[in-house]
Amino acid sequence: MLVAMKAVIPAAGWGVRFLPLTKEQPKEMLPVIDKPVIQYVVEEAVAAGIKDIIIVTGRHKRTIEDHFDRSFELESILRNGNRKALLDSISGLHELADLHYIRQHEQRGLGDAVYRARHHVGNEPFAVMLGDTIHVSEVPVVRQLMQVHARTGRTVIAAERVPREKVKDYGVLDAVRMEDRLYDIKDLVEKPRPEEAPSDLCIAGTYVLTPGIFECLERTEPGYNGEVQLTDALRLLREKEGLLAWEFVGKRYDIGDIPGWLSAQLELALKHPVYGERLRERIRELDREEHFL
Ligand code: G1P
Repeated sequence: MLVAMKAVIPAAGWGVRFLPLTKEQPKEMLPVIDKPVIQYVVEEAVAAGIKDIIIVTGRHKRTIEDHFDRSFELESILRNGNRKALLDSISGLHELADLHYIRQHEQRGLGDAVYRARHHVGNEPFAVMLGDTIHVSEVPVVRQLMQVHARTGRTVIAAERVPREKVKDYGVLDAVRMEDRLYDIKDLVEKPRPEEAPSDLCIAGTYVLTPGIFECLERTEPGYNGEVQLTDALRLLREKEGLLAWEFVGKRYDIGDIPGWLSAQLELALKHPVYGERLRERIRELDREEHFL
């Protein structure tokens, strides 16, 4: 049986890789087709049975709270105009889950953002889902981790193989295969140079952590980029409790930079039941005109 779990969604970063777009707008609010990225993340948590979600925000992030709040005025305009589908798309957002917001006052890194949530999380295992990662999968990726945690009682990190030249953008695992998709982690390193990376198995942005992580975060000094890295705290947790990695089933879109965002938009739009065919037709037309493919 899966135990109920809270989720922490860190969404406090500057989003510098998207500037000038993210100067005043949180990167978690960037649109992917018709929804902001963070809505996909919240929906994945809800689909996994998570009802209590803590979003760690910061300055310039108020639109995240507004997005998941009610807009009576807009709802009444849509209701009076008989625009039911559009009304349905916004009217339930505030009750998707029990959403809480905590501010990270200084941008001290992902580890520090997770640490901000410690009082709300309490002494229980919890999920961490990065606010810029979308999955398409039959079983929500976070639920896959919850299942591994339920049978092992250990911290589990979603992992994914990436091309060698990309390991520099990720936390990278040194891990030994235990069974299909399941690995015992021996070491982890944040954003190594490709020649120093222990493997091509990377931390994919979803975690189920035991509460022991908070004490480890307290002992973690700023690391890569002068920030408190969750990866470094996980190294300490591994020494105490061991760590597992789960090579998840599904597809991940990393909305961490402009190329990642554009490809997610393109791929998901091409597969979209309403907009997909029109977009494919436009691409074929453009190719006939300009041979750009
Ligand atoms: C964070 C983590 C990194 C992980 C990545 C996944 O990095 O620190 O270990 O591999 O997310 O997207 P960020 O992308 O926030 O720099």
